[in-house]
Amino acid sequence: MTMTENNRKLASPEAAADVLAGLTDFEQALAFYHQHLAPDTAVNLSVAENVLLYRQSMDKEVFKKIALIPEPNIKYMASAGTPQLRGQVAELLGRAFGRTVSPDDVFGCAGVSSALECIAFGLMRKGAGTPALKPGDEVLIPAPYWQGFNWSFEERPKLKCVPVNLPTEGKDRYRLTLDLIVQAYEARQKAGHRPRLLVLTNPHNPLGVNYDRQLLDEIYAWAMTYTDMHIISDEIYCHSQLDSSSTPFTSAVTLGAYSGFANRIHVVWGFAKDFGLSGFRTGFVVSKNPAVHRVMLGDSDPAEKTHPLPWFTPFDSLKTYVIGELLSAHHDGERYTTYAMKKYPGLLSDSFRAVKGALDQAGIKYVHQDGENSAMFFWLDLTEYLGKRPAPADGQAELLKAEGLDPDEKWLFDYLALKPTEVSLLPGGVMHNPAPGFFRLCFTALPADEVVAAVRRMATALGKLK
Ligand SMILES: Cc1ncc(COP(=O)(O)O)c(C=O)c1O
Repeated sequence: MTMTENNRKLASPEAAADVLAGLTDFEQALAFYHQHLAPDTAVNLSVAENVLLYRQSMDKEVFKKIALIPEPNIKYMASAGTPQLRGQVAELLGRAFGRTVSPDDVFGCAGVSSALECIAFGLMRKGAGTPALKPGDEVLIPAPYWQGFNWSFEERPKLKCVPVNLPTEGKDRYRLTLDLIVQAYEARQKAGHRPRLLVLTNPHNPLGVNYDRQLLDEIYAWAMTYTDMHIISDEIYCHSQLDSSSTPFTSAVTLGAYSGFANRIHVVWGFAKDFGLSGFRTGFVVSKNPAVHRVMLGDSDPAEKTHPLPWFTPFDSLKTYVIGELLSAHHDGERYTTYAMKKYPGLLSDSFRAVKGALDQAGIKYVHQDGENSAMFFWLDLTEYLGKRPAPADGQAELLKAEGLDPDEKWLFDYLALKPTEVSLLPGGVMHNPAPGFFRLCFTALPADEVVAAVRRMATALGKLK
């Protein structure tokens, strides 16, 4: 029995439908729907997942060799990761970033979502920088953006995410510039608010681009010199590079600004995307800021005495064991992670080309120029199908409820997700996209042939709307 079959057996359809009704995030609700309620024919391309390496080598080289959980790994462990694990991850990230990363600056926790929240709490502490972050402060984020930033920064730290809308039309559509950020910053300041954090996702989800070094240098130099903002660079997709990409990935830790302002520049990464281990919930903070260190390891300052924050969302002993095995495994005498991250861009690029070919053949538009990187997404432009819903407007069932989505975009989502097409995409509105009609397709959520088959089904359905 496969895991999916096993999971489906765990819930009766009625119980699963009850759980589904209570899920507040659209992407997570879709994932749940596909796992527990969708017929075998339905395909979920909405979720940012990656099956490529598991099937190619990871299952054989790592997981099939894990027989038993050793006794030390059933016990409490350092919640921000053991020294050995932090050292191994620092080495892995040092290779990806192109600059040595000190294990002392690397802290584990349960997912990048948690890593982001930990940094926010860290920056609220004494010595984080002047002034420290406080509830109500604002977080500027170029939009569209991964909607989880709202969970990480708003729900418990009580910061406020402010989208910096990218243009959705014209020759510069979806291009980030320093001007856009400066304008947003100044407008918020003028309105009496405090933008104190800028978050950049590089490579970008959902746009699938690497930011070029010059742009990053400009943005970081401006933010460090003219504002008191901190920057978090979310580099969770840093190994997800196409071999045709002409703009190389640039980590924040290699920028000029990092030499003078390392205390205000923080990076996050995890095994969810590049290694496809989303369910393990692994996240890492890379930061030199002493207040962030104290929040990750615990604070003995009498005024701010706390337990390590990852205690509540730990890099626990089970993760330490399994990820430790992954980091120590070998393939033909080479470290497995080195082998896997050399192999991965080829696998990713093969899937990308296959799916791009299918989209081109079907005439389905997407925002992408040759030479751009693509992380694991196509940003589909389905604007031409907006307003094509046949009358009566209420004649179509809804797969999921979604408040705040443009009704035409939502209709198009349901049209593709329900029978006979049964392909789920993520509506751009979920990711704060400023205009309706764009959808994220994750081309690594399934093997390429299955994604291609799904694209053909979409093409048939969209053809009927023309
Ligand atoms: C940019 C970005 N950051 C963070 C995450 C969440 O990572 P995790 O599942 O490790 O919490 C995602 C997941 O889609 C993401 O796209």
